[in-house]
Amino acid sequence: MNKPVNKPVKKTSSDSSTSHPAASFTEADYSLEKLLGGMSVEKFLAEHWHKKPLLVRQALPNFGAWLDRAGLSELACLDNSEGRLVRFKRGQCQLEYGPFEPEALDALPKNNWSLLVSGVNHLLPEADWLLHRFDFIPAARLDDLMVSFAPPGGGVGPHFDSYDVFLIQGQGRRRWEISAQDDLTTVEGAPLRILKEFRVDESWELEPGDMLYLPPQLAHNGVALTDCMTWSVGFRAPKAEEIVGQFLTFLQDRLELPGMYADPTLQRQKHVAEIPAAMLTWADKTIRAAARWDKSDVADFLGRYLSEPKSHVYFDPPERPKSLAAFTKAIRKNGVALDSRSQMLFHGDAFYINGERLEASPALRGMLTNLADKRYLMPGDCTHEQGAEMIALLHVWYRAGYLFPAG
Ligand code: SIN
Ligand code: CO
Repeated sequence: MNKPVNKPVKKTSSDSSTSHPAASFTEADYSLEKLLGGMSVEKFLAEHWHKKPLLVRQALPNFGAWLDRAGLSELACLDNSEGRLVRFKRGQCQLEYGPFEPEALDALPKNNWSLLVSGVNHLLPEADWLLHRFDFIPAARLDDLMVSFAPPGGGVGPHFDSYDVFLIQGQGRRRWEISAQDDLTTVEGAPLRILKEFRVDESWELEPGDMLYLPPQLAHNGVALTDCMTWSVGFRAPKAEEIVGQFLTFLQDRLELPGMYADPTLQRQKHVAEIPAAMLTWADKTIRAAARWDKSDVADFLGRYLSEPKSHVYFDPPERPKSLAAFTKAIRKNGVALDSRSQMLFHGDAFYINGERLEASPALRGMLTNLADKRYLMPGDCTHEQGAEMIALLHVWYRAGYLFPAG
C-alpha cells in the first residue's frame, strides 16, 4: 500500500530578521570546479576521498537561504520526515525523535541544542538538486541530504561517522574541529556516539557557502558560533555483515527445491540420538547444489537491494493519472524527471528502479542509461523510432509515482 506523503515543500518563508544576505543563490552560482575548490574530480578522489579532509572556501557562493530555522522546524513536524533533536543538559546528551510538535520546537532554549532532519532531498526540491551536484560519486554510494539547525553552542558533540560526508555551511557560522586521534572510545550509555576524549588537531570557522569534506572514522566536532544551518551530503557503504545476510535472504527468496530426504535403505543405528550419516551427506549435497551463484546473481541482488527505497519512503502515485496519450504529449513537450525518492541503477543490460528489475529491450538501453545517470530525459529524447516503447514503460513508472512529466 502506498501511504500518502506530504507534497514537497517549496521554498520556506524567511522573515527579514532571519534572512541572510545569501538569499540569492541560483544554479548559476554552482560549478563543479568551484565546488571542489578548483581541484579536479580525479585529484579529489585520488587524494581526499575516503582518506583526508578538504576545506573549500566558497564552494557554493551565495548559498544558504533555502531553509532557515522556521523552515527546518516545519519539516521536522511532518509525519514522513526523519527528525532528531539533540540537547545537552548539565553535560548529559539527550536525544528525541520526530515528528515534533511546532510548539515544542518554538520553545527550545537559546543555546546548546541541535535539530537535525535527514532525507531533506525528498522534501525540498532544491535539496535534491544540491544532493545530485555530488553525482561524481556513484549513485550506489550516495545516501541523503541532512540539514541541521543549531543556536550558539549547539552541535551533536565530538564524534566520528562511519561514512564520508560533505558538510556545507548554510546560514550562520560554525567552528569545525577535527582530530586524527586513534582513540575512538565513546561515552557509555549516551544515546549518541560521543567521544570520551577529543583532542583538537585543527579547526576552521565556516561561513555560508564554505564546505568541509570529512572521510569516515575521522573524529570531529561542529559547534555553532551563531544560529547556524549545516547541510550534510551523506554517503552509504554496505556493511559486510549486512550484504551477506541480505544476499542469503535474496537466495532464499528465489529457492524452489522439490523433494525431501528419504531413507528406504535405513539400517538400525547404534545410538538412536545420533544424526544419521546418510542424512548429513544428503543435506550437505543438497545445500551445495542449491546455494550456487555467480557474479551476475550478485549484480542482480545489488541492483535490487541498493535501489530499494528506505523503509519510511512511500511513493505518491498520481490520483488521476494522465492517459498514455496525454502523458506522451506532456513528455514530448517538457521531458520527464525521476521523482526525488526514486533510485535507479544499472549493471550491464539490467536496469533497477526502486527495488524492481526491468528487462529492457536493447533498443531502450541508451535512453534508460541516460535516465538513470541524469535523472531526467529531454523532450527530444523519446521522439525517435523506439520512443513509443520507451514512453509506454515511462507511463507505467509514472503511474507508480516513480517519475513525472517535467515542466
Ligand atoms: C550537523 O550537526 O549538522 C552534522 C553533524 C555531524 O555529522 O558532524
Ligand atoms: Co559527523
